[in-house]
Amino acid sequence: MAPAAIAVVPGVDFFPKYFDRAAQEALRDAIRAVLAQAPLFRARMPRTGKPFSVRMSNCGPLGWVSDEAGYRYQPNHPETGRPWPPIPEVLLAAWADLAPAAPPPEACLINFYDAAARMGLHQDRDEQALSAPVVSLSLGDPAIFRIGGPARNAPTRSFRIESGDALTFGGPARLAFHGVDRIVAGGSTLLANGGRINLTLRRVTEADA
Ligand code: SIN
Ligand code: FE2
Repeated sequence: MAPAAIAVVPGVDFFPKYFDRAAQEALRDAIRAVLAQAPLFRARMPRTGKPFSVRMSNCGPLGWVSDEAGYRYQPNHPETGRPWPPIPEVLLAAWADLAPAAPPPEACLINFYDAAARMGLHQDRDEQALSAPVVSLSLGDPAIFRIGGPARNAPTRSFRIESGDALTFGGPARLAFHGVDRIVAGGSTLLANGGRINLTLRRVTEADA
């Protein structure tokens, strides 16, 4: 059952402490099991090949990858060639709770931030199914998260996202620019070696009519 959402801007809902500590530990362990099957890899920027500062993996039928050939969803890990592991039940339950009107998620991008990692302002727009929201869940060290509007030059606001917090962006905010200014190192004890895990669940294809 979702706690009350804070409406950050139209289409963006923030659910502080959506997961309590025990649920965070269970989710952390489920992600650890996924990463044992599908190790973190370092994606590269289209064209330039510049490496991202975050390391990534995915679970679900599709996973988001990026390299010199561009951004895309694909069913296999780019380094092992194996299919992505299934999305853990706890994440499917969070999606059903937070995005009840949407068809099931097809991709869960796992981003791992060390203390120096950041994510520049961008839109999530590689999905066909823009009617479903993006559901974002965070574990470990806090992040200073920034979100604006559907135009790159729209005003932005930033706020701190902590371990266990959930955020959804859909409707008028589905294409809002967003990013991570920085990680607050040492701000959580959930991950033994520090850092932050962010999970973004997405519907990629339009559901069958
Ligand atoms: C992302 O936009 O893919 C990640 C956002 C976050 O780390 O909170
Ligand atoms: Fe994103």
